[in-house]
Amino acid sequence: MTEQTVSLNLPEQLRLAEEANAELRRGRKDRWYPSFHIAAPAGWINDPNGLSFFRGRYQVYFQHNPASAQHHMMHWGHVSSEDLVTWRREPIALAPTLEADRDGVFSGSAVVGDDGLLYAFYTGHRWRNGVNEDEGNLQVQCLAVSEDGVTFEKRGVVVEGPEDLLHFRDPKVWRSGGTWWMVFGACSAENRGEVWLYRSENLLDWEFDRILFRDPDPEAFMLECPDMFPLGDKWVILYCPMGPSRDGFRARNTHNAGYVVGEWEPGGDFRQLTDYRLVDWGHQFYAPQTFEAPDGRRIAFGWMGSFEIPVATQAEDAWCGQLTVPRELTLDADLRLRNRPVAEVERLRADSRELGAFEVALNDDVVLLDDAAAYEIELEVDLARTTSERVALKLGLTPDGSHTMVAYDDLIGRVVVDRHAAAHGDRGYRGAPYPGGDRLALRVLVDRGSVEVFVNGGAESVTSFAFPAEGPRAAVLSSESGTIAVESLTVHRLRSAWAED
Ligand code: FRU
Repeated sequence: MTEQTVSLNLPEQLRLAEEANAELRRGRKDRWYPSFHIAAPAGWINDPNGLSFFRGRYQVYFQHNPASAQHHMMHWGHVSSEDLVTWRREPIALAPTLEADRDGVFSGSAVVGDDGLLYAFYTGHRWRNGVNEDEGNLQVQCLAVSEDGVTFEKRGVVVEGPEDLLHFRDPKVWRSGGTWWMVFGACSAENRGEVWLYRSENLLDWEFDRILFRDPDPEAFMLECPDMFPLGDKWVILYCPMGPSRDGFRARNTHNAGYVVGEWEPGGDFRQLTDYRLVDWGHQFYAPQTFEAPDGRRIAFGWMGSFEIPVATQAEDAWCGQLTVPRELTLDADLRLRNRPVAEVERLRADSRELGAFEVALNDDVVLLDDAAAYEIELEVDLARTTSERVALKLGLTPDGSHTMVAYDDLIGRVVVDRHAAAHGDRGYRGAPYPGGDRLALRVLVDRGSVEVFVNGGAESVTSFAFPAEGPRAAVLSSESGTIAVESLTVHRLRSAWAED
């Protein structure tokens, strides 16, 4: 380990960060601020970091700029929970203080060491020229250690890496076969996106093991936020390739997250068995990170946000970005990843109304809710008896007619989130391939500014921002040029996830 000169005092930098955040918080607007998703009190967030179960609580850290709703000078924000759905705000955990993390405490992960301490690995980020990426980045992997998960002590750089790599970041650590492993993303000298693997016996001294994975797509020049974990007897590498061109419904966002499945033994090569596939098909799903819950479930949070297209909340609302609900990942027999809300999410249900089985007549609208901001819809439809071109839910439908549509589209065989009629924010639509079968099952989680759609038990998902206009927000089920055979329909209002509300 290299000793680093501490240039700034961490508690003092955190105090300044909290002060700036409290000031920003005073101007926050809540029209789209999440009620049951993790977001910062104010300011910008991106990737989930340091996901872990420590001292009896789930710990979720995240990339955070406490001082404005723009991505700049990253810190680690922090929340914790006993049950994965009721969250307590914790003080900001990490701020730039070292020469090595001068321009940002970037993404990373956390594990509990044999000494019972929480080890947080993150990327220390510097711009070579001190102001922007034009002359490249200097990125190293750093360690910070905590006794309580709240207060950290920085231990400095643990992986220097080659001097000349432009991108070299996002360490994800786990233990297998008695050894600690760290993967992170790199842009090779030939401009190819790679996942590098290091190993350690003590979490402090790390040595290069191998380049574990190179994206076969030559357009991918960097793989952000790689995560590697077992599901059954297979290994999954989740990653976020930068560079691939738009391709139909795929790679539609400037930032997309996907995975490959393969085989791996500690000390060996990764043998890729599947092609790259998206985890989620929406506008806003990036940088997912996973951890193993005490009961063995593999749980992921993703980031809902956008780096390129401005987000409507950035202009006046003093916050930007939220995490997805926690999702359990499993692998189907055909090696496809399934992701669905963890069972605990059902505990948010405050008031449920079952509408049972019925038929939506030709070109008809059924009002499900007159005015609701945070709710869940469970809808099952018999497609064999349905002739409607779309099974359409108009969500956040306000008196001016603007809304976001979530629909099964029988013509294109997809489940879409369509924002062409949105009054605020980015428009456009996205769609997951319909997995097949006559029994369509949609589960839709709607928050003040977002929708998450799970198709047929999480076989596919679509996650996007959706910012409604002024006035009561209705939810309507619509048929188009045909009828809909609803098998079951339940609407749940969802309570807030914040302990202090
Ligand atoms: C991905 C990412 C990471 C980086 C972090 C910086 O969203 O670009 O690669 O560590 O965000 O905030």
